[in-house]
Amino acid sequence: MVASHPGTPQSQPTARVGLSAGAPDEVKLSSLNELRPALQACRRCGLWRHATQGVAGEGPFTAPLMFVGEQPGDMEDLAGRPFIGPAGQLLSRALDAAGISRSEAYVTNAVKHFKHELRGKRRLHKTPDAGEVRACRWWLDQERTMVKPKLIVALGGTAALAVFGKAMPIMRSRGRPLPLDGGLQGLITVHPSYLLRIPDEAAKAAAWRGFVEDLTVAGKLITSG
Ligand code: URA
Ligand code: SF4
Repeated sequence: MVASHPGTPQSQPTARVGLSAGAPDEVKLSSLNELRPALQACRRCGLWRHATQGVAGEGPFTAPLMFVGEQPGDMEDLAGRPFIGPAGQLLSRALDAAGISRSEAYVTNAVKHFKHELRGKRRLHKTPDAGEVRACRWWLDQERTMVKPKLIVALGGTAALAVFGKAMPIMRSRGRPLPLDGGLQGLITVHPSYLLRIPDEAAKAAAWRGFVEDLTVAGKLITSG
């Protein structure tokens, strides 16, 4: 599919006017304020076609802590803001429990457009594939370069793939600092949607504790040294 050719601009050279070029490599962002409008012109993979809008990260542009999720969900796609739906609310509660103020963190996603399939009137989440994650990594790298966080927390497998550039075993690598390029640290934990899907109450409570523990480690990492 289109996404397997992330480096290929899909527009013709004649269409290369400003941000409509389609190849974000040609777009130079001088501030994160430009990210949101620039995303709307991205044609680097096919996901823009069925989404309402590209969703940029949110939070202080100099945050020491960056959270990376998977992709906008249904509500995020409509509102144009990351992590505002059920998963986002759970994330906010877990951050509270871990003593981290969400307003001090920069929160974004590995993939900026909502991938879904229609089931009747409902838009069901579909996991982005590796090609789409690779294509969209250009934008994440922009955020990473401009925010310059001390620690990036990857929420779940798609985020870990985007942040570390390779598939990571979530349960075996979670909850501890892992080196990233540029002297930066990464930390992997589960995605909040995973907690929402656990039917058994005891298992859900245990998963919640594990999630809060991982976030507590993240909080300590940014306050130490
Ligand atoms: N899930 C994500 O990964 N990101 C969002 O923004 C919302 C839900
Ligand atoms: Fe571009 Fe990312 Fe949207 Fe694909 S998902 S069109 S790479 S912004």
